[in-house]
Amino acid sequence: MIKVSPPRFSKVIIALLFVFYLTPVLSQDIPTDAAVIAQGESLFNANCKTCHRVHQKLVGPALENVYNRAPSIDWIKSFIRNSSAVIASGDEYAVKLYNDYGKTQMTAFTGLKDDQIMAILAYIQDETKKGPPVAAAPPAADGGGGQQGVPTPYLNAILIGMVIILILLVVILGFLVSALKRFLDQKSLSEEDREVVHSPITLGTITRSPGFAFVVVFIVGSLGFKAVINGLYSVGIQQGYAPKQPIAFSHKLHAGAYEIDCKYCHVGTLKGKSATIPSVNICMNCHSAVKTESPQIQKLWAAADWQPETKTYGPNQKPIEWVRIHNLPDLAYFNHAQHVVVGGIECQTCHGPVETMDVVKQYSLLTMGWCIDCHRKTDVNSKGNAYYDKLVELHNAAGKKPMKVEDNGGLECAKCHY
Ligand code: HEC
Ligand code: HEC
Ligand code: HEC
Ligand code: HEC
Ligand code: HEC
Ligand code: HEC
Repeated sequence: MIKVSPPRFSKVIIALLFVFYLTPVLSQDIPTDAAVIAQGESLFNANCKTCHRVHQKLVGPALENVYNRAPSIDWIKSFIRNSSAVIASGDEYAVKLYNDYGKTQMTAFTGLKDDQIMAILAYIQDETKKGPPVAAAPPAADGGGGQQGVPTPYLNAILIGMVIILILLVVILGFLVSALKRFLDQKSLSEEDREVVHSPITLGTITRSPGFAFVVVFIVGSLGFKAVINGLYSVGIQQGYAPKQPIAFSHKLHAGAYEIDCKYCHVGTLKGKSATIPSVNICMNCHSAVKTESPQIQKLWAAADWQPETKTYGPNQKPIEWVRIHNLPDLAYFNHAQHVVVGGIECQTCHGPVETMDVVKQYSLLTMGWCIDCHRKTDVNSKGNAYYDKLVELHNAAGKKPMKVEDNGGLECAKCHY
């Protein structure tokens, strides 16, 4: 029988406590609640995802396991709130990290509360445990939206079919004519009629007949008419327009490969009418340190008047002269926030798969018909929007189908025209 004497017992407890202290207890403080993890995920996506991934190095380090390698949870909290203060204090770990990442300044998140940071860590811990995701198959390119009309292969098939039918018709008519001739020959015809029946069909007789003249005029007339209509319909339409830009900025790289959120750069889409093109300092959040040797990035530095030695902006900043691609005429009013925030419509519905484009092009027609068509087809996104509760209730009481944008005035001239 093992007997533990009281003094030995307390030593065991002390030893146990010591072991507990040494093993990284850090991660045990991190919540594992599903709700907290979900909150952490949205905080992470909104604030950190532009520079960090859990399993992949981006502008900043991959954050998997960071709670075990960083000096402490408190260190992480102060680093997130104000990394430059931690670096300036001479903290060895922070200084090394800063140098390893090309002296890139992490944004200071002074507003993040303790429990919000813990939620972000909860999300990181959860993702760390899940391991890196298996690469998913790329989504099929969406052919809908802006593309209009019949695809060329179908058109060709239809044309070939029509030609075959025409040839068959000519052959059948030929048979009919000779059968008729034989039939008439058996009758007793006057000399005059016999001449008509046996008059030879030559190119000359065909081209001189009034029927032929009519067919030719008809074909030429309809082709000309179609060309004029097509021309009129395409006045002012710039679908497919993809001008060369002063800096070879690629959406395929930034929004595609690096998954930077569209709204990180086009902040205007959340606030109002214009989507806005990002100013140089948004680019400089990364490019003060990323790919600095590239001549394209040097152009960026010139525009920002960035002084790499002193890491400051000089006085001679000038905006980059991006060429505007989408442009409605002044008579029309279009508001991004109304569609993106209130309507909940994805950018890609109107702009196509921008994240696969090296050079952006105008994907949709941007005609009045295009706007109206969508307002006829699309349901109003009334979920969680108290503003619509009463309207939807009234609409449902009176009607049958879900409320479309057109039921809410989406076809009224004055909504879109000044
Ligand atoms: C503008 C880019 C940027 C953003 C946004 C950003 N970080 Fe960072 N982060 C960095 C860089 C770069 C480093 C490397 C250290 C340095 O250069 O200062 C870093 C380092 C860290 C570290 C230390 C990593 C380690 O290996 O010890 C943590 C933790 C961290 N970031 C968390 C966050 C969290 C959480 C957010 C969002 C709330 C966030 N970061 C947002 C760029 C960013
Ligand atoms: C890193 C910043 C950045 C991100 C992220 C980004 N864009 Fe852009 N976007 C730009 C810049 C800079 C331009 C102007 C240069 C050009 O046209 O390529 C632009 C141009 C555009 C244009 C054409 C504007 C015009 O002149 O009519 C559209 C449309 C667009 N972006 C949509 C998107 C969508 C959709 C996403 C997300 C899938 C996205 N952008 C993500 C920076 C960004
Ligand atoms: C969140 C970080 C981030 C932001 C913001 C960002 N970039 Fe980039 N950019 C990158 C990364 C990462 C690369 C790829 C570097 C590499 O290929 O190693 C890159 C590459 C580039 C390149 C290609 C350079 C070359 O020669 O290969 C250009 C040009 C560029 N960016 C322009 C811009 C412009 C203009 C903006 C602002 C509208 C911008 N970037 C904003 C991260 C960013
Ligand atoms: C319902 C269709 C629709 C949706 C959804 C939409 N856009 Fe647009 N976008 C347009 C139209 C139309 C224009 C032209 C506006 C004008 O000329 O006044 C435009 C113009 C732009 C421009 C260039 C001009 C400007 O307004 O600054 C950018 C950049 C842009 N969109 C980005 C985006 C991004 C990013 C998203 C998603 C967050 C988005 N758009 C969602 C229809 C849409
Ligand atoms: C992809 C579908 C789609 C396209 C394309 C589209 N819209 Fe809309 N639009 C919507 C939706 C959905 C709403 C309703 C948003 C809401 O709930 O208020 C809306 C609302 C509006 C409103 C506010 C209507 C109201 O009742 O107050 C205006 C104005 C508008 N759109 C203008 C335009 C213009 C101009 C264009 C073309 C340049 C356009 N839209 C193209 C889907 C679209
Ligand atoms: C959903 C938005 C929307 C509504 C509703 C709407 N329009 Fe338009 N309209 C547009 C847009 C966008 C254009 C510009 C299209 C273009 O340039 O091809 C336009 C163009 C026009 C033009 C052509 C102007 C020109 O110089 O080419 C006329 C005329 C017009 N609209 C009249 C009307 C009338 C009348 C109504 C009401 C019955 C109406 N619109 C309702 C969006 C709308």
